[in-house]
Amino acid sequence: MLEPHQLAEINRRKTFAIISHPDAGKTTVTEKLLLFGNAIHMAGVVKAKRAKQFARSDWMEIEKQRGISVSSSVMQFEYGGHVVNLLDTPGHEDFSEDTYRVLTAVDSALMIIDSSKGIETQTKKLFKVCHDRHIPIMTFMNKVDLEGRDPFELIDEVEKVLSLPTFAATWPIGQGKRFKGVYNRLSKQILLFDPNQKTKNFETTLVQNLDDPVLKERVGDELLDKLKEDLSLLEAGGDFDTESYLAGHLSPVFFGSAVNNFGIQELLEAFLKFAPGPLARPAEERLVEPTEEKLTGVVFKIQANMDPKHRDRMAFFRICSGEFYPGIDVYHVRLDRVVRINNALTFMSQERKNVEKAYAGDIIGLHDRGTLMIGDTLTLGEKLKFTGVPQFSPDMFCRVELKNPIKIKQLHKGVEQLAEEGTSQLFKRKFNSDIIIGVVGRLQFEVVKFRLLNEYGADAEFIPLSFSSSRWYHSTNKKVLEEFESYYRDQIVFDVRDYPMILFKNDWEENYVQEKYPDMRFFDSLITYEQEVRA
Ligand code: G4P
Repeated sequence: MLEPHQLAEINRRKTFAIISHPDAGKTTVTEKLLLFGNAIHMAGVVKAKRAKQFARSDWMEIEKQRGISVSSSVMQFEYGGHVVNLLDTPGHEDFSEDTYRVLTAVDSALMIIDSSKGIETQTKKLFKVCHDRHIPIMTFMNKVDLEGRDPFELIDEVEKVLSLPTFAATWPIGQGKRFKGVYNRLSKQILLFDPNQKTKNFETTLVQNLDDPVLKERVGDELLDKLKEDLSLLEAGGDFDTESYLAGHLSPVFFGSAVNNFGIQELLEAFLKFAPGPLARPAEERLVEPTEEKLTGVVFKIQANMDPKHRDRMAFFRICSGEFYPGIDVYHVRLDRVVRINNALTFMSQERKNVEKAYAGDIIGLHDRGTLMIGDTLTLGEKLKFTGVPQFSPDMFCRVELKNPIKIKQLHKGVEQLAEEGTSQLFKRKFNSDIIIGVVGRLQFEVVKFRLLNEYGADAEFIPLSFSSSRWYHSTNKKVLEEFESYYRDQIVFDVRDYPMILFKNDWEENYVQEKYPDMRFFDSLITYEQEVRA
């Protein structure tokens, strides 16, 4: 049994990810949350630090050049007695595999929407992943200081396009140049916005009720009448139902302006009050409760060379149950052996700190010397495999050739390490030494090429291959399997786990092959392939 203080530590944890379309304001919201959590002390630090990090870490230069966020990061801060683990996700769709993996490590999500634009493509895709996993979602309608869409229209869009019922937790008074503040339907208070006060981060005027003369004076009759009318319409929708939110069936919506730090504190406080703490996590064998005494957890992300000076490799580990402390001996289920973890890191904004104790819900960084892979489970002896960390079959392929053949060792090391990290997938053929790289988003090729050169000194040429999809395959009928493998010999490759895959030239061929070989099964997800092979 865990001690009461250990249970209290687990219960005060909240682990969530922010999802949004690029430019909706994810970085700005993150920064304000970190300000509240005292993890940073000045606005602009996240971006400034990001910029500094670009300079230090060369591969991130790609992010700077393209103005996109390639990798996702983890930040921990404390607020109101809670320990919050915030996981950032890359906004660009070419890196959505990374985002999917991050979403397996959280208990809830915050969806940020640019209220002047409404729901954009990437939000839709990321929402779907959360929805499929029943992750509770809070919504922040950002940029209400811009002339935007009508708030009813915005929540209507969430309900229709995402099929997600909403509860307007705060409601804007005016918009754009006439934006005056928000009414908080949970506390029944009104927060007034003063555009001139934006540098004083936490100061806003709080009005306790709709009849307060200050409100009338600041807002004016027209907007006040409109607010009252809006509120009576919203009342008809009923009260906030926490159970529906926790089941992923209802999203509380908050309006505000991240750049003005307006409405973020309301969001944060509601998040800490309502968002779930560490949830039970499914393993193939059983459901693991966070309050179980023994430590368990899963590696959901690997990132090499975060600090180019040390050329280190960090495995991001979600603790699913129990307590972690340095020096603990853990059972590495895939390798079937015990490993000692002498130290681990926690990330506060861009600072790293050695972990003294960490609990279910926390994300910690383990130094890895090549023994950890994405999806690995660590326990205190039990054979468990946490499910859900996805790996998809790629649909873009290149053959990699070196410009300078002397660097072949570096190239092999680079492509292997980057594949283990999930930056790309690596394939080999049985009958020649071709190196084939597969990705799901084209920009991933650029990242791999750039990193091979900058981190491994291998200047490689990427020659596109004309395949449009790939599938892991399996059959229990040996004869059919042999015939298939001999006929499609030139299209068969092996992934890093040595699992066979077929590369298809186009959709027509894929359908044709599947019809021609009814005794064979084809898989676009590693998880389902592994389940089939084990069965
Ligand atoms: P992202 O991480 O989701 O890609 O978005 P980010 O926070 O970088 O914000 C994208 C742009 O939107 C930034 O402007 C940011 O300042 C602006 N922004 C964020 N929140 C608000 C808001 O509430 N109101 C308004 N009007 N703008 C907002 P930028 O010009 O691209 O960058 P910067 O020069 O401000 O750094």
